[in-house]
Amino acid sequence: MSLTRTNLAILGLQWGDEGKGKVVDLLSPRFQQVVRFQGGNNAGHTVVVDGQSIALHQVPSGALHPGCFLVVGNGVVLNLEVFQQELDRLRARGFDLAGRLLLSDKAHLILPHHIALDLWREGGANKIGTTGRGIGPAYEMKAGRMGVRLGDLLHPETLADRIRPGYEEVRLRLGEGSGLSSLEAIVDALLRTAEPFLSFIGDTQGHLLTAWERGDSILFEGAQATLLDIDHGTYPFVTSSNCSLGGLFTGTGLPPKALDRILGIAKAYTTRVGAGPFPAELHDALGDRLREVGREFGTTTGRPRRCGWFDAPITAHACRTNGVDGLAIMKLDVLDGLDEVGLIVGYRTGEGTVTTKLPSCAADWKGLKAEVKRFKGWASTRGITDHRQLPAEAQAYLEALAESVEVPVAYLSTGPDRHEGCVYPGTFLEPLLA
Ligand code: IMP
Repeated sequence: MSLTRTNLAILGLQWGDEGKGKVVDLLSPRFQQVVRFQGGNNAGHTVVVDGQSIALHQVPSGALHPGCFLVVGNGVVLNLEVFQQELDRLRARGFDLAGRLLLSDKAHLILPHHIALDLWREGGANKIGTTGRGIGPAYEMKAGRMGVRLGDLLHPETLADRIRPGYEEVRLRLGEGSGLSSLEAIVDALLRTAEPFLSFIGDTQGHLLTAWERGDSILFEGAQATLLDIDHGTYPFVTSSNCSLGGLFTGTGLPPKALDRILGIAKAYTTRVGAGPFPAELHDALGDRLREVGREFGTTTGRPRRCGWFDAPITAHACRTNGVDGLAIMKLDVLDGLDEVGLIVGYRTGEGTVTTKLPSCAADWKGLKAEVKRFKGWASTRGITDHRQLPAEAQAYLEALAESVEVPVAYLSTGPDRHEGCVYPGTFLEPLLA
């Protein structure tokens, strides 16, 4: 494998919002293909360029680099109206995707009744704090063989028949007076919205297989993260796709041997949005401080994120699930100026024993208390670009963090801008970020 030919996956190791967008954006100039393979517009990647931030939801982060071809794989669910808004925003900033975007004809559409069903459920007792974007219902329809794929847009004469079964089920569920648009109105609006996209729809699997065989470098951009994975996350407080490594292969149609390296992204602390287990959560002024300094408010929904110390057991689980080769630790500078920094090394059970094993059932998370190891704080790491310049206390913290998940640090982010960060010498990232 030549170094310029590394096909790389970038995966979140916590509950999302780790800062994957910055890393993808940094790396994408070295790749010819940048690929999204799961999720939809529940994702929100903020990329900061020259102090200006651009929020992307469905468009792969490589959009800002004219040399990158952007692929939206079959595992993604797409809201075309939102996609159009993203394309318009990018065009207004001078980024045109014409000729370098391909959307899978097998990717599923998010339709208005999916959003209505998501919101209806979230108004009830079983709410899990979704983003309200219709993600769960879109994937349900896919699994229930009632989904509508981008390829169906190329057959407008059968579109209403494709949409009808799922639409009827939702209408029955929501009842009269739900305010749901008529099927005809949904079909008409969809055909209008879809028109500018028709020329972008195609065979992404074939495109990627050819690109791989040709020797293109491919960057796979994960959305959400392992603890939100429908199988390996904190079910049922998860999203509806496989955000961990398996989803990359089903979501693109590429075989595992097309992938060379896996970079896991984690913040130097932990956050989560929505309901669900989170033993590391700080309910005090420290949690508020992390939220304020780290600007921990959702890119997609604006919701305040729950904040806590770095949770080694969940991150170690994510590293093992994904076979992570190296860590990118983000937002270390948010911990600057604290007297003490905590690291969750295990969970104390009701019986008083300490475990690092994650429960499979939501009920078993109840009563687990975070076991915190404390480290001396440091003054500032902001903008440091050589890890040897880090304060000794920050180095000690990072060493303990890497040891606790048994994966070395390959990249460290020390601020929001592109140049604020350190690449660790001797790691597989060094030639890619040199
Ligand atoms: P859904 O994906 O909208 O169905 O939401 C399911 C759960 O995943 C909720 O707890 C959301 O807050 C969470 N979630 C979905 N996408 C993201 C993301 O990109 N970052 C963080 N949390 C997310």
